[in-house]
Amino acid sequence: MRATSSFIIALCVTLLASAAFAQTTTSRCAECHFANMSSVPAPQHLGDWQQSPHGKRDVGCDKCHGGDPMTFQPAEAHRGVLSSDNPASPVYRANLVRTCAPCHERNALAFGQSLHQILVRADDQRAPTCTTCHGVMIARVPSPVALEARCAACHPSGSARGEYPSLMRDGVERLNAQRARADELQEAIERIQDRTRRVELLASIYDARTAIKEAIAGVHTFDLRTLTERLDTAKRRLDLITAAVVPTGR
Ligand code: HEC
Ligand code: HEC
Ligand code: HEC
Ligand code: HEC
Ligand code: HEC
Repeated sequence: MRATSSFIIALCVTLLASAAFAQTTTSRCAECHFANMSSVPAPQHLGDWQQSPHGKRDVGCDKCHGGDPMTFQPAEAHRGVLSSDNPASPVYRANLVRTCAPCHERNALAFGQSLHQILVRADDQRAPTCTTCHGVMIARVPSPVALEARCAACHPSGSARGEYPSLMRDGVERLNAQRARADELQEAIERIQDRTRRVELLASIYDARTAIKEAIAGVHTFDLRTLTERLDTAKRRLDLITAAVVPTGR
């Protein structure tokens, strides 16, 4: 009797889990892992993934782990899926840059050239990789304050690079301010009646946003000079647009 009711509960949970997934993903991986929460490793990652930009945009488990997302046969599904401890796994620390790169090329390329990645590749456990700042599956974007704390955990004040954490925070604060400014300008431009002028200015906003993306990649070089140069470029573009949108003497 008890066994039956817990079986029914388990079945309901399974059905609920797969019903919730049917709409959001084409991946059998997620469906089966959700249905077997109690027996799969790292069950907490499932909720993280679901709430992350990856889960929401249907970036399935196979995109990072490999395997075949179209089958419910465990052996076929897991072909090529290796534990993250295995140096051949795409989610092994040293391979993450390559795994994330197809979709986040700019940042992966920048990070790939940093001393941090050279150390990660040499299996130096002291160095950070993508998941150190972004979480394993949650893909959170650190706030300036969170980033400062993250850098400072490894580069405390008084150490060789002790001034980096707060300077990097300043850089990311500038970045956030520029993004807000681009949003405001875009709103103002969308209200412009003259179509030709509006389209021209929207193209300039696009260019400014590209410069901001280059600055984000600049964060991933960990080189403050590169970051500052890129922030200055973005600022110049935003200044030009501001001058064009807000006529002087009004
Ligand atoms: C039919 C159910 C099912 C499907 C489909 C499935 N998994 Fe699994 N997976 C499990 C179970 C159960 C385990 C734990 C037992 C085991 O290791 O076989 C597991 C284990 C894993 C592990 C841990 C491996 C390790 O060695 O630590 C990973 C990673 C994983 N699955 C990813 C995936 C990916 C990616 C897919 C799709 C390409 C997938 N799974 C499809 C049920 C499934
Ligand atoms: C954005 C990339 C990414 C996505 C998408 C992703 N994972 Fe992972 N997953 C990782 C990384 C990286 C690790 C290594 C964990 C660590 O470093 O602690 C991991 C670890 C795991 C583990 C623990 C076993 C191990 O090898 O460490 C399982 C099980 C797992 N993932 C299953 C899944 C399932 C199921 C999905 C889809 C619902 C999924 N993952 C989606 C990146 C991803
Ligand atoms: C198959 C493509 C794909 C792969 C592989 C992938 N991502 Fe993503 N990632 C996305 C998409 C799509 C988004 C959502 C982008 C958006 O909403 O603009 C995203 C969003 C993110 C975000 C949040 C961006 C934001 O602005 O909120 C971070 C951080 C991130 N990914 C990190 C990673 C890391 C680290 C890896 C490797 C472990 C990885 N991603 C692997 C496609 C991918
Ligand atoms: C030391 C911390 C740190 C590490 C390591 C790191 N990032 Fe980031 N990442 C950041 C910060 C800070 C931002 C920007 C925050 C903002 O935009 O306000 C960011 C933003 C992002 C974004 C979202 C913005 C965009 O460009 O669309 C993605 C995606 C991303 N990183 C991917 C990666 C990948 C892939 C790796 C590994 C190759 C990585 N990051 C390593 C700190 C880090
Ligand atoms: C998980 C630990 C860890 C984190 C987090 C971390 N670093 Fe590092 N970093 C290291 C190690 C280890 C080295 C190499 C030893 C050294 O030079 O201190 C290094 C080296 C550096 C270097 C020297 C690069 C070169 O080419 O000479 C810079 C600059 C740097 N880190 C800046 C930062 C900044 C900025 C952050 C935050 C955005 C950060 N680091 C986060 C561990 C870390």
